[in-house]
This record gives sequence, structure tokens and C-alpha cells, in this order.
Amino acid sequence: MEAQLALRPAPASPLRSPAPLTPAQQRYGLLPMPDLAWTPAVERATAHLYDKVRDVIPSVEWPFFAPYVKAINELKAQRGAVILAHNYQTPEIFHCVADVVGDSLQLARRAAEAEQDIIVQCGVHFMAETSKLLSPDKTVLIPDSRAGCSLAASITGADVRLLKQRYPGVPVVTYVNSSADVKAETDICCTSSNAVQVVESLGVDRVIFLPDEYLGQYVQSQTRVRLILWKGHCEVHERFTGAELRAYREADPSIQIIAHPECPPDVLAEADFTGSTAHMIDWVKSRQPRRVVMVTECSMADNVAAEAPRVEFVRPCNLCPHMKRITLPKILDSLVNMREEVLIDPAIAERARLPIERMVNLKA
Ligand code: 13P
Ligand code: SF4
Repeated sequence: MEAQLALRPAPASPLRSPAPLTPAQQRYGLLPMPDLAWTPAVERATAHLYDKVRDVIPSVEWPFFAPYVKAINELKAQRGAVILAHNYQTPEIFHCVADVVGDSLQLARRAAEAEQDIIVQCGVHFMAETSKLLSPDKTVLIPDSRAGCSLAASITGADVRLLKQRYPGVPVVTYVNSSADVKAETDICCTSSNAVQVVESLGVDRVIFLPDEYLGQYVQSQTRVRLILWKGHCEVHERFTGAELRAYREADPSIQIIAHPECPPDVLAEADFTGSTAHMIDWVKSRQPRRVVMVTECSMADNVAAEAPRVEFVRPCNLCPHMKRITLPKILDSLVNMREEVLIDPAIAERARLPIERMVNLKA
């Protein structure tokens, strides 16, 4: 018997209407995508920037980056935008298109002071939210809003409300690596560079410290204030082990080990210095060690290596997959199409702003 082919008409495709414009797109409009060809003119215009990164970006890769670098720098000026980049951004972003680089505290301060109306945040989502909270009238863009953080994802506002019921009257100190929802339930925020100072600023003998358990344990080792901790962890820093660091030291007893306080305690026990990303960078630049292991996200070693050619970096390479979502093509797309705009529910924003402002206003 002959097979019968049942030919059914394809379902009618609904006509797709273009996505509605966001407030930022309506306000600033969209621009045409610039030409991204690698030409002698692009090579000449970006030569001074390539000089900054030639030790960490091979010359065969520069023809891919350079047209984006030139286009982003031109569009940034045309839009009147400022680019803030965290220390974990890759060198072509950190050294070639960013206007301000730093750790979470430095970026939060600079966002608050920025004169420009448009902030492009090259970092993860909580950093962009922090900028928006501190600059509610500015347009804050993040090149990829999926750039999250395992610490921020480890706790919700409802969790904090339960903790406050369990420990009535105990103030809540929250690491900036958290959502606006969580900040809205918080008394004061902290970063890894000011956590001890913030905890002690409250003048109490007990605080709820959220959400990073390892940062909390590190702070606990530096203060008499008792910390009630949450079991949030950074998926990048929790992968380091003390055994791995002991092996480096056995191979070279003069090696210097510097670590971020999001690392587990057995890792920090091996470290010659513990500090925020900015404090780690300052430590390397001022001490100029012969060989150093930077126990943190590995793009940071590339960024410092570009400026400290005499230091040899040992790089256990743990990348933050969220930070790595930010790329030059996505930054360009942000400036061309004014996306992705960070918007926060005004009722949450009003409460979430206070703990960040309290932190930023603390005297250094
Ligand atoms: P810093 O504030 O030290 O830059 O840390 C932010 C962060 O997310 C580290 O993983
Ligand atoms: Fe979050 Fe860790 Fe990535 Fe920092 S390195 S953004 S703490 S996941």
C-alpha cells in the first residue's frame, strides 16, 4: 500500500511586532552599527591602547578587538557615557575602553559621583544595581543582564525577613554582592575592602552578616563583634584549596600568596596577604614581588601583569563565568541600542538605597 503523505499547512505565524522601546531607547534613540573592519586607520587609532596590553594580548588577536575598541570609545563620547569596569574584566575592556576601574567599593563611589547621564557597567548585575540605586536619575546599562553572582543568588529578601524574626533587634550587615531585594532588608552594606570597619561602626556586640560565609569568617577573625553567618559562597573562590597553595610554596618557598577574603579559611591560612581586589592590586604594585600567586578570579592577574612586567604571576585560572559574559561586542551593542537598562521597583529601590548610602558615607 502506498504511503500517504499527509501534507498539513504550516500553522500561520503570528506577525511579530517589534519589541517596544525601553525608556532609555526612547530618550536617547538607537544608532546605526559602526563599521567594524580592521583597517590601517583602525590600527593607527588604537596603537596607543595596544601598547598598554601587548604583554597580555597576542598581536594576532588585536585585529579582532581593535575595531570594537575604537567604535566603543567613539560612541561613548557621542552618547556622553562613562564605562565603569570591575577588576575582573578582561584586559581589552579594563585597559582599553573603561573610564573607571576598581573593586566594588570604588565603583560604587564613582557611580555616585559620575557627571555623565549614562553609566555602562562592565561587571555583574548587583554592581549595576548598586550604581542605579546610587544614581536613580541616570540611565544605567549592563551589556548582559544575565551576568549574575552565586553569592547574590544564595539569599532572598524573604530569607532576611525570617532571620530578622529569629534575631530581633540584631542589625543586618550585607555584602554588596546581593540583590536590591536583600539590600532593602539591610541596615548597612559592606564590601570586602571595608567589611570589618562597617561591622565595628555599628557599636553593637552582634550582627547578622550576609550572605558570604567565608568573608564572614574572615571578618570574625579580625573583630570581637559576634557574626551570625549565612552559608552563601562564591563559586569561583570556593574552588581554591589550601593544599594547592601549599604545593606552590613547597615548589618555591619565596613565592608570595595573596588571596581574596571570599576564599575558604584553609586558603586564607596560607596567604601572606588578604584583601579586596583593589587592595590585592595595590599590594602587588607597591611590593613588586618576584613571583606571586593571586588567589582570585584570573583575569585580574592579566590586568595587573600588563602594568607590572617585572612580576611573575602564577595563575591558578578560576574564571567567573558571570563576569565573562561582558564582552566588547556586547558593550558596543549597549551603546548602539541603549540596552540592557537596569530598572528597579521604586518601592524596593527607596529602601535598598539607604544601606549603600550609609556605607558610602562612612569615613574611610
Ligand atoms: P571586590 O569588592 O574585592 O572587588 O570583590 C567583588 C567580587 O565579586 C569578588 O568576587
Ligand atoms: Fe560573584 Fe564570585 Fe563572580 Fe565575584 S567572582 S561576581 S563573588 S561569582
